[in-house]
Amino acid sequence: MAVTSSINLVIDEIKDFKTKPSDESLGFGQQFSDRMLLREYKDNQWQVGRIQKYSNFSLPPSAMVFHYGQEIFEGLKAFRQENGNIAIFRPDENAKRMNRSAERMVMPTLEEGYFVDTLNTLVNLERDWVPRKKGTSLYVRPTMIATEGALGVHPAGEYYYFVILSPSGSYFSEGFKPTRIKVEDEFVRAVLGGTGQAKAGGNYAGSLLAAVNAKKEGYSQVLWLDGKEKKYIEEVGAMNIAFVIDNEVVTPKLTGSILPGITRKSVIQLGNDMGIKVREETLSIDFIEESIKSGSLTEIFGIGTAASIAPVGELKYKDHLHVLNNNETGPITQRFYDELTGIQYGRIEDRHGWVHIVE
Ligand SMILES: Cc1ncc(COP(=O)(O)O)c(C=O)c1O
Repeated sequence: MAVTSSINLVIDEIKDFKTKPSDESLGFGQQFSDRMLLREYKDNQWQVGRIQKYSNFSLPPSAMVFHYGQEIFEGLKAFRQENGNIAIFRPDENAKRMNRSAERMVMPTLEEGYFVDTLNTLVNLERDWVPRKKGTSLYVRPTMIATEGALGVHPAGEYYYFVILSPSGSYFSEGFKPTRIKVEDEFVRAVLGGTGQAKAGGNYAGSLLAAVNAKKEGYSQVLWLDGKEKKYIEEVGAMNIAFVIDNEVVTPKLTGSILPGITRKSVIQLGNDMGIKVREETLSIDFIEESIKSGSLTEIFGIGTAASIAPVGELKYKDHLHVLNNNETGPITQRFYDELTGIQYGRIEDRHGWVHIVE
């Protein structure tokens, strides 16, 4: 029997439940929980949403997402805190970014309150799926696709908004160990005026060839340079990037072609809180290499929801290989990791009201 919730949501009763994976076996994005949220947009408005069994869609082969790629998504995490609370990190920021992506891709926006409240209800129903082992979480993937069945390059009139949940361990197979990154000097991810600052699936499709080539050489992700001169640092495949130079943190300025990360925004605030200066600047790859050579650049770390704070142990640009901090996690990287994850897991006070307790 379906019930209607206070946020105008139908909640299906489900009967058969999956066997949950053990916390030890968790990778990233491999298993999905019992329920999902689905809301349709048609006749120029959003319809009543439904929390239903995680199940396949049936779409016509002409659904516009398959042809013109109108697809956007978000990524955030729910953490099991030490006192048993389930906490979602900054969902209001994801709601805002999803709407900015929707506007860029000419898709319908969602009410921010609806985005957050429905995530709360879904994660609450699925709270047993939030793993317990240190460093694990429930990854939350809100997505929007164009479902109208029609050909012709124009914005679709029908969409699905859906949310799926995936219990997750470490994003990188190597865990919280320094990762190897290759600076991409052939392909580019985004250009000014393009869609780089939207979280649109097409950006990721275009990045795959470089990522596959880098993997063949033993690198876990690529570091993108700007699309015009291939000179200025932008971001890594699925995270922003920061450099420790003379004990200060420097991260590329948001130029319009970089995804404005919510973890990046949090790191800037945390640096301020911890008395570590974080600057946003235009950084050339030449300057980065010179700073490594001179010894002023001591640490590099990636910043993003999936990987949280990811130390970089090796950076390769053309045929120059740079080893950072003897391939070990540096002290400033570790401080940011401890502070950020401390707030997320409830070990450190949530001074900025970032944590949404699920209830
Ligand atoms: C291309 C890209 N850059 C940066 C990030 C980091 O953003 P956030 O901290 O919001 O996860 C992500 C992940 O969402 C990403 O896919």
